Amino acid sequence: MKGKGIVVGVTGGIAAYKAAELVRLLVREEAVVRVAMTANAARFVAPLTFEALSGNRVLCDMWGPEAGAMDHISLGQEADLVIVAPATANFIGKMANGIGDDFLSTMLLAATAPVLVCPAMNVKMYGNPVVQKNLEVLKDRGVTVMEPGEGQLACRSEGKGRLPDPPEIVEEAQRLLSPRDLQGMRILVTAGPTVEPLDPVRYITNRSSGKMGYAVARAAWRRGASVVLVSGPTCIAPPRGVDFKPVRTAFEMRDTVFALAPRTHVIVKAAAVADYRPKSTADQKIKKGPRALTLDLEKNPDILAELGKTDTFSGILVGFAAETEELLGNAEAKLKAKNLDMIVANDVSRKDAGFETDTNAVKILFREGRMEETPLLGKDQVADLLLDRIKVLWEDRGERRRGD
Ligand code: PMT
Repeated sequence: MKGKGIVVGVTGGIAAYKAAELVRLLVREEAVVRVAMTANAARFVAPLTFEALSGNRVLCDMWGPEAGAMDHISLGQEADLVIVAPATANFIGKMANGIGDDFLSTMLLAATAPVLVCPAMNVKMYGNPVVQKNLEVLKDRGVTVMEPGEGQLACRSEGKGRLPDPPEIVEEAQRLLSPRDLQGMRILVTAGPTVEPLDPVRYITNRSSGKMGYAVARAAWRRGASVVLVSGPTCIAPPRGVDFKPVRTAFEMRDTVFALAPRTHVIVKAAAVADYRPKSTADQKIKKGPRALTLDLEKNPDILAELGKTDTFSGILVGFAAETEELLGNAEAKLKAKNLDMIVANDVSRKDAGFETDTNAVKILFREGRMEETPLLGKDQVADLLLDRIKVLWEDRGERRRGD
């Protein structure tokens, strides 16, 4: 979002206070944020709050000193995105019917930037056919409308009508600002660890947090791909828009991946699959005894190697290699042995890359022997870079035609 111009329009509902968090998150993503408020929104939250958070003067009054003569025209035309959050039933009605009776509604009439509307209101109001019809009108005009969340509303009723959480709005904004260059691609991403049970209370696992795989899934969705995320247990929420398939063991992951593989153009295996599992799983908790305990382990299936061997999957196959030594040599050997199109070599002995971190630095090896190295980047940036390379492989393979 760095440098992107975003106008946040705040209208007069109690959820206006959440717009402050939205602005903070957008500024954290390095967007250039201007806030425009209706007069009623300014009853809920002082414009000064938004001014402090955005670092820019807030536009409330068409005729006030803060608005330049042409701001009501230029703002929505120069912006990369306009977000209306919260959008009240009244304001949605105005937008749908072309009413421009204050700064924000007038600016929206002239806006050429994409518009994202985030309704928030009482459950009955939201369900009112007039409001629903107005939302349909907006959607038909190309406005993106986010579904409100469900739960307890500020008016103390229960149901649909909550403003989506600000991080979700940011996620949707990021999608709208991204190129849709992976449209038509069906991609399956695996992420996180697998857990291999010893008894009802213990298991063998590894340090994978899922961050790298989730970043690939999130970036692919933003760019228009249809995404399935097969994930071992993690502490992070599944990204919006992806078809989430939680699994636990390597066997469960294998079954899920193989069931979906025939309908998939690209498989990215970022998961850290346990190579071994306990030979047997005790029905009851294993008791502590006087002597040392020896565990018998047996090999798990190598999902990636099986995919590389079989006719089940003829799309683009991308592996990761987590190494603590001989990074390139080991990654190259895996690329060949598992018959991959591309492998992402990860030096997991580094403190700033690999497991658990928000950053990563990788070496990308291609089937034909080419190698590329990334600097230390955020995992989201690494994900986009990997998808750029995958897109080229996918287009070369003509998978778009084959799969459609
Ligand atoms: O989740 P994070 O905390 O963000 O960390 C990211 C990561 C370090 C887990 C990720 O970047 C990474 O390197 N993932 C691969 C980890 C791994 O298992 O590497 P490996 O070298 O053991 O396996 C090579 C490849 O074979 C991997 O694509 C793996 O998914 C696959 N594999 C491995 C074993 C197995 N039984 N089946 C498999 O499919």
